[in-house]
Amino acid sequence: MLTKRHDFIQYFINKNAGKNYLEIGVDQGNVFFSIQVKNKIAVDPEFKFDNFKKLTRYIAKPNRPALLSNLNAKYFEITSDSFFENHKPTEKFDVCFIDGMHEFDYSTRDAVNCLNHLTDNGVIILHDCNPLNKEEEISFDDWKKRGFTGGWKGDVWKTIVYLKAFRKDLNVCVVDTDQGLGIVTKRNPNTPEKPYPFNFKDEAEIRNLDYAFFEQNRVALLDLVDVATYNKNL
Ligand SMILES: C[S@@+](CC[C@H](N)C(=O)[O-])C[C@H]1O[C@@H](n2cnc3c(N)ncnc32)[C@H](O)[C@@H]1O
Repeated sequence: MLTKRHDFIQYFINKNAGKNYLEIGVDQGNVFFSIQVKNKIAVDPEFKFDNFKKLTRYIAKPNRPALLSNLNAKYFEITSDSFFENHKPTEKFDVCFIDGMHEFDYSTRDAVNCLNHLTDNGVIILHDCNPLNKEEEISFDDWKKRGFTGGWKGDVWKTIVYLKAFRKDLNVCVVDTDQGLGIVTKRNPNTPEKPYPFNFKDEAEIRNLDYAFFEQNRVALLDLVDVATYNKNL
């Protein structure tokens, strides 16, 4: 059963015999170093590891595929905006994991940029889509004022709402596990659109939604799926 973000990422890479993986927001590399794939790219303005730690991570994963995949990895110590603007990736990604700046404008730009570089059967996974209380949903500045304490998921959930409301070319849901994993794929035009029970007029309306509204409508807004049910339907 898939429960953690690592499991989902590796599952979709294996399912599609994927070769290219992009992770936005890598931090200590706990997920990044564990993923086995031919080519992987890490993007973060401040990696929390140095070359020595990278090396120890390679050695800590002694099996050959993980070692090769870590040796082939490319690291961009810049923001995701700068990555897409200045490095214009030429390859298409099979799986993108978005876990960078947890604010609506950033995570939406990340999602749109990833979609523009995604294979037809590729998958985008967004972390932290399901805040459990108002304290987790605050802005980055407020989290900073709080001394970076406590869980912080920001308002990535609004990116899910935006994609569900305005990107009818996609399938979007959130699996209720590991802080809420948003799963985005390209919709086959021959399959029916899933109706969305909200009628937002524009992006600004979504940006201005508040936590109380989210709490009242969580399941429908996110298309929140129980993890056992999601696994059963894989
Ligand atoms: C929650 S951590 C990532 C955790 C990692 N993906 C994992 O699962 O182990 C968020 C990371 O996003 C990075 N970050 C912040 N702003 C960013 C941006 N604009 N672009 C890319 N990464 C960003 C931070 O430096 C931090 O390391």
